[in-house]
Amino acid sequence: MAMSSDKVKSLLHEVESFKIETKEQLENFRLQFLSKKGSIQELFGRIKDIEPAMRKEYGAVVNDLKNKAEEKFIALKEKFEYTPAESTGIDYSLPGEPMQSGAMHPISIARNRIIEIFSAIGFVVSDGPEIEDDWHNFSALNFPEEHPARDMQDTFFVSPTDEGDTKGPMALRTHTSSVQVRIMENNQPPIRTISPGRVYRNEAISARAHCFFHQVEGLYIDTDVSFADLKQTLLYFAKEMFSSDTKIRLRPSYFPFTEPSAEMDISCSICKGKGCNVCKYTGWVEILGCGMVDPAVLDNCKIDSKKYSGYAFGMGIERIAMLNHGINDLRLFSENDLRFLRQFGGV
Ligand code: DAH
Repeated sequence: MAMSSDKVKSLLHEVESFKIETKEQLENFRLQFLSKKGSIQELFGRIKDIEPAMRKEYGAVVNDLKNKAEEKFIALKEKFEYTPAESTGIDYSLPGEPMQSGAMHPISIARNRIIEIFSAIGFVVSDGPEIEDDWHNFSALNFPEEHPARDMQDTFFVSPTDEGDTKGPMALRTHTSSVQVRIMENNQPPIRTISPGRVYRNEAISARAHCFFHQVEGLYIDTDVSFADLKQTLLYFAKEMFSSDTKIRLRPSYFPFTEPSAEMDISCSICKGKGCNVCKYTGWVEILGCGMVDPAVLDNCKIDSKKYSGYAFGMGIERIAMLNHGINDLRLFSENDLRFLRQFGGV
């Protein structure tokens, strides 16, 4: 032990007097005293040669030496921006850079919520093509030949292709009601479906109009479906989508494919009906069109209108998203401005 403690003492002296004025000297210090093959580690290795009764004391003395050497090393480490020679230069103790994650688009948020609400009462999701023929977008839905929607000013027509068996001129669909036709042509009642998707209209782009936007179509066909069923379903939807105190009102309207037809307003979700600039101080905001499917449309789609009846509705997804988030300009949805999009989540 005596011999060993002399060794410790002399090493302590060496540690204390070691001159460190450069990065290289610091590294030499580390190699000489603190590395795995350094002299302090060697002293620890000698513990097995010490009498068992003295080992504890010996261990404490060597530990003390090691602490002193480490303190000296750490104190100078920052000064020389030290990185050990064998290191990769990466400081694993630094906090990591956060990973960027995307956010759901407000239209997707609204669409998913609409799907969730209708799925809960048995509606299934369906879809159809965005490039549609005249039959599915207009004729089967009872649009007369001279209807203004069939005009180039309102509809984007596209050049015909020779693919598939299409009926009439091709256009970008102007509404998701075209999916109704496809569903009825291919299924017999009971039918309970919603069809979300993108639609196109030849409009000048402004805060309130765009050349493309999104709709959700709803369709319910069965025996004995009544207007009361439609009204109750839409009331359920409005309460789920906005809040349980939301009121609805149905105003008589006209669509070629429903009879009778209505437009539905909800009590303004922003001012709770008191009046604000979103509801133009009326307390009501229009959110959808609806009605009982015209028997002629059922027959066009090979569904027996004497046996079955049904309702349909169509709403704009942008309108719902605007009400939910207080968005006042349609263009924001498609400009991909990250300052807008980041408000919906993500980092
Ligand atoms: N297709 C209509 C539109 O784009 C919306 C609509 C109204 C859909 C009444 C319907 C409906 O299914 O019954 O303005």
